[in-house]
Amino acid sequence: MKAITVEPRKPGTVRFEDVPDPDAREGSVLVEAIAAAVCGTDVEIAEGKYGWAPPGKTRLVLGHESLGRVIDPGPRSSLKKGDLVTGIVRRPDPVPCPNCAVGEWDMCRNGLYTERGIKEIHGFMSERWRIEPEYAIKIDPSLGILGVLLEPTTVIAKALEQILAVGQRAFWEPKTVLVTGAGPIGLLAAAVARLPRLEVHVLDRIETGLKPDLVRALGATYHSGRVLDIGFEPDVIVECTGVGSVIADSIQKVGAGGVVCLTGVGAGGIAMGAVADVAAAAVLKNNVVVGSVNANKRHWYKANDRLARLDRTWLSRLITRYEKPENFTQALERKPDDIKVVIQFSEI
Ligand code: BGC
Repeated sequence: MKAITVEPRKPGTVRFEDVPDPDAREGSVLVEAIAAAVCGTDVEIAEGKYGWAPPGKTRLVLGHESLGRVIDPGPRSSLKKGDLVTGIVRRPDPVPCPNCAVGEWDMCRNGLYTERGIKEIHGFMSERWRIEPEYAIKIDPSLGILGVLLEPTTVIAKALEQILAVGQRAFWEPKTVLVTGAGPIGLLAAAVARLPRLEVHVLDRIETGLKPDLVRALGATYHSGRVLDIGFEPDVIVECTGVGSVIADSIQKVGAGGVVCLTGVGAGGIAMGAVADVAAAAVLKNNVVVGSVNANKRHWYKANDRLARLDRTWLSRLITRYEKPENFTQALERKPDDIKVVIQFSEI
């Protein structure tokens, strides 16, 4: 079969090439790939900045945002041939740490977790893949190809759960949410936060076009410019840019008793002069800054429910480009109008 593979930490090594069929040890459920979506992490891996091949191997099959059709459910699963499924990304560490031991692999404490298509286990950008039944999530068939958006939605489901958990330390009835960054994660965060009718604002650098349109279509408010200029103090900020200045502004701008949840992974040093000012704002307003990554099974369950409740036309506008696997180079390129790029392996 063919797969999109990469030699992690070596830029320019992505190939669409012949690889052996998936190993039976990867799981008893055999799946035919329909689609795999591209995210910033895939681009980073392709650029040689992140990622780990399986032990003893030099190349990794890329891809962690998946959608496939069950070809063979195997002997011990409730899945049926033809079911649409997606695969959970992370596997618990083998020690296991206390959090992995209780199924909270997203909160792994020793860093020995593995992740499909990212860290030491092959991903889903192959014509066929295997998965353990307990890590295969059945998708609402009415979502169709939009099921490929489940994985980023799980990241949001976890982040929102973290925000609520932190907020509950005191009396707290959040009403306003600011999302920074109108990429796929930011837009999905805004859409999920609108489900309970919260007042949602989204801020991005872009001034016109699809992103502001999508935000307004949710009944949310769009801002371009600086967080400090939005004109109110949000109860919650979901930070999806990873940009230092946006993070610093968010910590200063969030309302008293508020929560800033960081989901974006950026790079760059700490501007020491500003840290104490930013921290002082957090101290004096009892604010919390919480980082959030990945998702466990509870979040996959919640995300599956939330995604199925979102408007299908709105969701389909998030996918701005479909590419064939052989066009992986274009798929991994970030073009100005892109929101989500999907690599389509077979017809749905
Ligand atoms: C994925 C997460 C993963 C993280 C770090 C993200 O792109 O969505 O599942 O934990 O990268 O590797």
